[in-house]
Amino acid sequence: MTNRIERVHAREVFDSRGKPTVEVEVTCAGARPGRAMVPSGASTGRFEAVELRDRGDSRLDGLGVRHAVANVCTEIASVLIGLDANDQAEIDRRLIELDGTPQKSRLGANAILGTSLAVAYASAEARGLSAVARFREIWENHHRRAGGVSPPVNSSVTVVRPTGGLTPSDRLGEKMLLPLPMVNMISGGLHAGRQLEFQDFLILPVGATSYSQAFEWIVMVYRRLGRVLTERGHEGILIGDEGGYGPKLRTNEEAIEFVVAAIEAAGLKPGSDVAIGLDVASTHFFEEGRYRLPSVSSSPLTAEQMVDLLERWVTRYPIISLEDALAEDDWDGWRLITERLGQRVQLIGDDLFVTNVARLQEGIERGVANSVLIKLNQIGTLSETLATLKLALDNGYWPVVSARSGETEDATIADLVVATGAGQLKVGSVARSERLAKYNQLLRLEESLAGEAGYLGGAIFTR
Ligand code: PGA
Ligand code: ZN
Repeated sequence: MTNRIERVHAREVFDSRGKPTVEVEVTCAGARPGRAMVPSGASTGRFEAVELRDRGDSRLDGLGVRHAVANVCTEIASVLIGLDANDQAEIDRRLIELDGTPQKSRLGANAILGTSLAVAYASAEARGLSAVARFREIWENHHRRAGGVSPPVNSSVTVVRPTGGLTPSDRLGEKMLLPLPMVNMISGGLHAGRQLEFQDFLILPVGATSYSQAFEWIVMVYRRLGRVLTERGHEGILIGDEGGYGPKLRTNEEAIEFVVAAIEAAGLKPGSDVAIGLDVASTHFFEEGRYRLPSVSSSPLTAEQMVDLLERWVTRYPIISLEDALAEDDWDGWRLITERLGQRVQLIGDDLFVTNVARLQEGIERGVANSVLIKLNQIGTLSETLATLKLALDNGYWPVVSARSGETEDATIADLVVATGAGQLKVGSVARSERLAKYNQLLRLEESLAGEAGYLGGAIFTR
């Protein structure tokens, strides 16, 4: 059965930071339109697909997306109209080919991703499917097409995989799963006026036995953290871009200590009930081969000193996950931290891998990291995102589906993470409705998919 695309339309809308973004509507003959909105990062990686903005335009300080919108309504529409919305792989292939640049800079990754996702929704609308059912279908088709484990490009390279330590459950990516949420409690870096050098201080409710219980624990830790911060003199705390608290603290370690105190104040056990994750986002304080961390040391740290520091913290605190601990092009530093900590904690590459199959493949061959952040707009189409997700799973890397710091009410990633059984989701904190749009959708899915979708929670980390 085919569902012919009849109309492709886009408009400029606004995201959670009040910045313009792209919304696309794709309509199949006889059906209601499928619609998607595109998120936007602040601490973006250099290797990400390019978000097209109306630079140089005086309107909205050059942040407008009217060119991207026009690209959808003209060039993209003329190629897509008449094609089958049910053939996501072919649609995405056409979009990539039409753009013709390595980082989607001609038409804009925002124009392309909005279209790619709106096509998935249009296909769902045309056949009366829910979003999660459509994403499941696309994920299964992708598997069928791509086959089993992807062979390394250069098999002469030894791949260092953690053995005997912390490894991903081999059940990831198979059946539908409600994800373990990784949730921001305190923000620093580019998301909170650089009050702290590290970007996210997160919690992972690894001891919870269902998604809804995990979420309740998170809400309680967040509430207690607010109280603990206020009690210790941090009145009128600023809230960061992702809804986490943005207090003025002296050091990153102090932030970790506050989070531990909040877990305890919520009546939970740090480590076994609720573990800690950090998004170091170190690319953004990496200068001339050194890591600038004035709260730790007046002279910038070498990669080795960075790894020493993080190893001490992993030993001292219940940390289970470290994201972008080293910078996006510090492959040697990444190799070192993987050797030293790869069996003890999840090491996520965000700016490092930018959801790009080629970057992840290089990481696998070099034996760096053991996890990859999955952000749709870093790569720009649904099919390429699924390819990266599959490459991760085939090589024993934990995938973590993630929102951006600039978000909208579009809840695609909630449906996507469940449909693919990826196991983990990072969305930001439990305040601000662009975040809750995803968390609340997961509560609905937990209810509607009872029996169909499982929950591994902390069991995604097996020993
Ligand atoms: P960004 O931040 O969306 O601003 O890139 C999210 C992250 O670094 O994980
Ligand atoms: Zn990150």
